[in-house]
Amino acid sequence: MPLSFNDSSVTVAIVGCGGFIGSHLLDAVLCRTKWRVFGVDVDFYRIQHRLNDERCEFINADLADPRIVERIAQFPVVVNLAAICTPSRYMAEAPAVIRSNYDHPAALACACAKSGAWLIHFSTSEVYGRTLEDSGQLDEDKTGFVFGPVASSRWSYATAKLLAERFIAGLAGLCWTVVRPFNFVGPYMDFMPGVDGEGIPRVLANFSTALLRGESLKLVNGGKARRTFTSVFDAVDFMFALFASGDKGFSQAFNVGNPDNEVSIAELAERMRRIFARLKGVTVESLPAPEVVDGETFYGSGYDDSMRRLPSVEKAAKLLGFRAQVPLDVAVEESLTWFIGHYSNAAD
Ligand code: NAD
Ligand code: UGA
Repeated sequence: MPLSFNDSSVTVAIVGCGGFIGSHLLDAVLCRTKWRVFGVDVDFYRIQHRLNDERCEFINADLADPRIVERIAQFPVVVNLAAICTPSRYMAEAPAVIRSNYDHPAALACACAKSGAWLIHFSTSEVYGRTLEDSGQLDEDKTGFVFGPVASSRWSYATAKLLAERFIAGLAGLCWTVVRPFNFVGPYMDFMPGVDGEGIPRVLANFSTALLRGESLKLVNGGKARRTFTSVFDAVDFMFALFASGDKGFSQAFNVGNPDNEVSIAELAERMRRIFARLKGVTVESLPAPEVVDGETFYGSGYDDSMRRLPSVEKAAKLLGFRAQVPLDVAVEESLTWFIGHYSNAAD
């Protein structure tokens, strides 16, 4: 039976509700449905405006705690977004990354199998691994996976996510769906280093930071890698298509991405410079030129990369009637506008 958005007896558990995707999903659930939310996180800064909502119960707790896992699994729908998912951490903190992306989801999956909850687990487009410049469309049920050697610890995250997927798919009695996001972007993405986080955020936040600080954008290994950036608002619409789909989304992994938005990182840098210059009323020529940096120097020893991540999105279209809509320039401008507004006073 599809979930009714008007049914006020439904409670959805959102684990990682305070994160980038979680905060948008929380807002949308509260605006578009009559559901209640059981929200779990260790960080609530993005969702301050929701903390007193009478339809929400928030718990400041770590998914590593087995008592919390049991509690989460008591709700009929569990969305798991909690993870360490910043590439700069995959090398230096590989054991913690693996615990976060395999051990914790596996424990949650076992609890959901026992309780009968529907587990919607966020995996990643990185499960497709060390893709090459000429890799074609990545298909959920046909494409194989190749990772780098163990010394390339960049793959700690992707291998843990993939093992979690295999564990979930193999667990008897579990009702599950796996979501593989392709580089979501939007307001509230990541952090500004030195202001509300440390290390290197994902590329859109890192380029936005550099633009605000008047620094050059760093093109890792020349910026030849390609990504298909996807608006977080499309991602939320995907979740609503999934919620409404009844059992069509059960026992399936879905790519969630926008193949029309494919660019190289060097092209992304040019677009962001152009959009930023327009928003600030300056010329592109007045901004510092991008600078090429070596991947291991920038991120640390063990860094490696996927060169192309182009999703096939036919399964989500066929089973759920969903296709991403937001063009790249619109998604980038929404993100950059928010970043400028949010961090202008903190940039120096
Ligand atoms: P995020 O870091 O903004 O959000 C994750 C949230 O989980 C954070 O608020 C964090 O505090 C919380 N969290 C982490 N570990 C926790 C724990 N042990 N207990 C409780 N809370 C914990 O990340 P995001 O971009 O919103 O991504 C959400 C999920 O989607 C992750 O699983 C990530 O791997 C996956 N994903 C995201 C993208 C993307 O483009 N944003 C792409 C691929 C996969
Ligand atoms: C990311 C993260 O692993 C996860 O958050 C997520 O699961 C995954 O994307 C996904 O979307 O599925 P990646 O795309 O490599 O992986 O991370 P970014 O930091 O966004 O980097 C994208 C590309 O830009 C990489 O080639 C990186 O080397 C490059 N980059 C990054 C730069 O050239 N300059 C920068 O300043 C930052």
